[in-house]
Amino acid sequence: MNNQDNQKEKLNPSDNLTHSSTQQVVAKEGSSISNVIQTQNLYFNNLNIDLAQKSQNALPPFEAPPLPQCFIERPNITNDLKSKLINRELNSQGVLAISAIYGLGGIGKSTIAASLAYDNQIKNSFPDGILWASLGQEPDLFSLLRGRIQALDEDKTFIPINIETALSHFRTLLQNKKVLLILDDVWDSLHVQPFMAGNNSCQMLITTRRNTVAAEIGAHTYEIEIMSKEESLNLISTCIEYILDGDEKEEASKIAKLLGYLALALQMAATRKLRGAIEWTKLRVMLEDEINRLSALEPLAT
Ligand SMILES: Nc1ncnc2c1ncn2[C@@H]1O[C@H](COP(=O)(O)OP(=O)(O)OP(=O)(O)O)[C@@H](O)[C@H]1O
Ligand SMILES: [Mg+2]
Repeated sequence: MNNQDNQKEKLNPSDNLTHSSTQQVVAKEGSSISNVIQTQNLYFNNLNIDLAQKSQNALPPFEAPPLPQCFIERPNITNDLKSKLINRELNSQGVLAISAIYGLGGIGKSTIAASLAYDNQIKNSFPDGILWASLGQEPDLFSLLRGRIQALDEDKTFIPINIETALSHFRTLLQNKKVLLILDDVWDSLHVQPFMAGNNSCQMLITTRRNTVAAEIGAHTYEIEIMSKEESLNLISTCIEYILDGDEKEEASKIAKLLGYLALALQMAATRKLRGAIEWTKLRVMLEDEINRLSALEPLAT
């Protein structure tokens, strides 16, 4: 018997099963296969409904650091910036609009940027998300881009292998999206280039201590001034959790002036007052001593 006959012989159902029992088995198998198919269809239908609901319910990405504990609004600065960010028609030339918050270290740039990110009108203007990246002097641009891609990409499956693939995917993700991208603490205009990916439906906001950076990237610049006397007292009151008046207000005003109305220094002094339960006058004398000591280190004018 050749191989083919052997095969035929094995396949002959009459050897082991009657015709009707074969039909029964086929019918039984068939029904369990169709059950499996039905169950699978049900599963995939449910999965599709789940995914559709998920993408409907999914919140847009939101990245911003928390506001400081003694946060005070600075509407004289934020109002202008806010209307620039919200009024998209001002950026109708198809290019990405960039705004820059520029000013001294510790003056409150990052805090202003974060407060804008938390603003509901801004959030509504950028329904596809608000992204934040802190750059600093030597940023790891690849890792920062990867992080933003992760935040934007709904299926999270794309893992860029180098900066080029990251850039191209970032561009694709931003297409036709309304996203606000905040780059905090920018030191070099070259570090901004990889993020300039969106078109005029997106906007970019940077903070920097260098006005040359803002100029080099063609940003609309907002220079931040030190706090006013009223803002300074408001910040101190918020930190110590009571309203200043009388002699106390007088002393706190002197301290604010000594500290050059710099937000960071005001916050530190108020925290010192709160923690150490120290008298305002004593705190002022201590600060004066410290400032005198530091000015003794300055080179003498010739
Ligand atoms: N509007 C504000 N309300 C309350 N505190 C503030 C405010 N702005 C700034 N501060 C205080 O000053 C600190 C420094 O502010 P911020 O980090 O925003 O300064 P910056 O200008 O970004 O400084 P740098 O150039 O070093 O990044 C904050 O951590 C906070 O304690
Ligand atoms: Mg900052």
